[in-house]
Formats: sequence, C-alpha cells, structure tokens
Amino acid sequence: MANNRADEVVSAIVEGVRHAVREKDVTFEEYRAGIAYLMKIAQSGELPLLVDLFLNSTIVSNINEKNAPGVSPSDMEGPYFIEDVPEVDGQLKVLDDDRCDPLLLRGTIRDQDGNPLPGATVFVWSSTHDGKYGGIHDELPKDLYRGKLTTDSAGRYEVESRVPVPYTIPNTGPVGALLEMMGRHTWRPAHVHYKIRHDGFQELTTQVYFEGGDYVEDDCCEGIVPPEFVKPVIRENGKVVLDVDFTVQRAVETASA
Ligand SMILES: [Fe+2]
Repeated sequence: MANNRADEVVSAIVEGVRHAVREKDVTFEEYRAGIAYLMKIAQSGELPLLVDLFLNSTIVSNINEKNAPGVSPSDMEGPYFIEDVPEVDGQLKVLDDDRCDPLLLRGTIRDQDGNPLPGATVFVWSSTHDGKYGGIHDELPKDLYRGKLTTDSAGRYEVESRVPVPYTIPNTGPVGALLEMMGRHTWRPAHVHYKIRHDGFQELTTQVYFEGGDYVEDDCCEGIVPPEFVKPVIRENGKVVLDVDFTVQRAVETASA
C-alpha cells in the first residue's frame, strides 16, 4: 500500500542529497567512494552512530521548537539508555575505586503552571570515571551509575552518584575515520542524562552539563547543550551538587472518534 508520508520524506531526503551533489560538484569517483563508505559503515554496525552523530540533534531541535513556553528543553537520548533498571533510593551503585567526586543530583519536577509533580519517574544515567556506561561496556553491571527514582509529595528527587567525565564516542571504526578526515574530534562534554515520565505528560529526555567543562562549547555530536542546563560546579559538604528543576509538558489530548 502506498504511504504518502514515506514518499514525502524520502523524496525530500533525495532532493537534499541531489542539492549537495550539484552544489559541491561531486565527481563520479567521490560518489563511488561515498557508496563504498556507506557499505563499510553498514558492515561495521556503526550506522546508528553515524546517523545519530549528524541528525539526532536536529530531531531534538524540532521537538524544542514545538514546546510550550517554560517547558524544559530536550536533548539527545544517546545510545546508552536502558529501560529496565532498578528503582533506587538515595544512592546509585558506584565503582569502589571511583576517583571522581561524589555528585548529588536533586531538584523538582513541575508542570507548565509551576505545580510540583509527585510520583514522576526520573531515570538518571551517566558515565564511569573512564567514560563507560553500566550495562553497555566491559560487562559493567547495568545498575552502575544509573537507576530510576520517584518524586516525593513535593515533586522532588534526590540521589547520589559520582561526577562523570568527558568521553569519546567510538572512534576506531569508520565513523571515527570520517571525523578525523573532516578535521573534527570525537569528544562529548561530561554530562548526566535524565528521562522524566508522568502519566498525562510528554516524556522529557535531556542532559545536564557542567559550566566551564571541556567540550561544553564544542560537542562532537553537535549537541543542543541548553544554556539553562549548563550548571556551575557547586560544592556542598564535599559533594558536587547538580540542582536541576524540570518542567514537563502536558500530553496533547487526542480527540475521540
Ligand atoms: Fe552520555
């Protein structure tokens, strides 16, 4: 069955590529080299990485442009979110030999009118001191530096973890080779991922960064890095504190037939 949306989107993509070919006067040799590169990407399993690298931030920008005023900006989910993680209470699992400072994540989840949202689910996840993710790399347990919390009666969440570090995206395969050829680096700034859910509200997926940190102004993934989510490094009782409030958007009600 014909799908008009597929026709619309695919035709627009092809026209975009045609425009680039004409504008940059791409030669037949370059065209063949491009095809060979795409075959190599597919064989290496790095196709999602390549597409996310260049396009994920555009999808996120589209979401943010449609946000109601005051709603917190979205950011890329990245490839390391895990749905099935334990509910945690106050402390994420950390490595015994972690050499990074303790990190306290806390804040309030609110609706667009400023009302706190009790019972919201807040997923948090971040990297180890060497830029790896639990449940993804090196057979690290999946609840390492990640978990889900539920906001209390005042809409607040609070959990302790460790300060993450900047890390490089996979850079030894064809995606890394392409970035090197383009004169780009493969580093992301240190960040904490959040995903917030509550019945009746749109899911919010975003990231929070550390002011003054390496690559905050130069994310290899062309990240969104919303200014309100670049937080100064505040210390309390030997811990770095990320005090971050989020405002989520009410779900659009669909008209019943
Ligand atoms: Fe990440």
